[in-house]
Amino acid sequence: MSTVDPIPSSRTMVALDNMTREQALVFLTEMPSELDLVKIGLELYCSYGAAFVREVHEKFNKRIFLDLKLHDIPNTVAKTLASLSNLPIEFITVHLSGGRQMLEACQSIRNEKMTHTNILGVSYLTSLDHTNFRETWGIEETTIPAAFMRLFSLASETKTQGIVCSAQELKLLSKQQESANNKLMSVCPGIRFQDEIDNGSIGDQRRVLTPSQAFDRGADYIVMGRSLTQAEDLKSRVAQLNLVNS
Ligand code: C5P
Repeated sequence: MSTVDPIPSSRTMVALDNMTREQALVFLTEMPSELDLVKIGLELYCSYGAAFVREVHEKFNKRIFLDLKLHDIPNTVAKTLASLSNLPIEFITVHLSGGRQMLEACQSIRNEKMTHTNILGVSYLTSLDHTNFRETWGIEETTIPAAFMRLFSLASETKTQGIVCSAQELKLLSKQQESANNKLMSVCPGIRFQDEIDNGSIGDQRRVLTPSQAFDRGADYIVMGRSLTQAEDLKSRVAQLNLVNS
């Protein structure tokens, strides 16, 4: 497991979404060096593939989080991971709802071929609200915490390295970790600066918190996309990130 740096900007994964390869390269050239973790999602990976992952790692010396959110039968997900094993990927995502056998298959491929990669289990997307929980899974608002706890236990029992969840669920995660006596790395998207929350600029996210709220609640890493990639003044946003009350 990676050691977590205490400085907020080095624990912030910058999501490169809504951009072409050319735009991403310009952004990376201008990105302050203290942001050294880059999240490549489905959009850029589907367009530019493994070459783009290598380019970002080698040319810009960035640590890579490949956010593919794999979700399929155990054999398919394990073989997909194996096909990525020669890439410099420090973090990759799979959906915890793929189930125990899928998560175990992921760990066996990881142990065999890619111990340099931490597998992160996605719990529930931060874009979902209680209406979605009811509509999709029949989970009522009062039982949402129990639904999270089930997925956290599954991650822990299958020795998945970490979890992706909203920082709003970190209290539940620490409760689960205390009972299982096992620390899961926590990665939290759905982060916005306070002024963005105040003026309603949260886009499609629902369960949002500020960077400092997320770190205070125990996030090991946070994921920030549009708040940084579309910032008018990126340097001052990075400075804000490193302030206690950002
Ligand atoms: O722009 P924004 O900060 O909302 O981007 C958040 C990023 O985190 C996106 O790339 C999205 O795919 C990812 N993500 C998320 N919720 C999850 C897992 C990943 O928003 N549960």
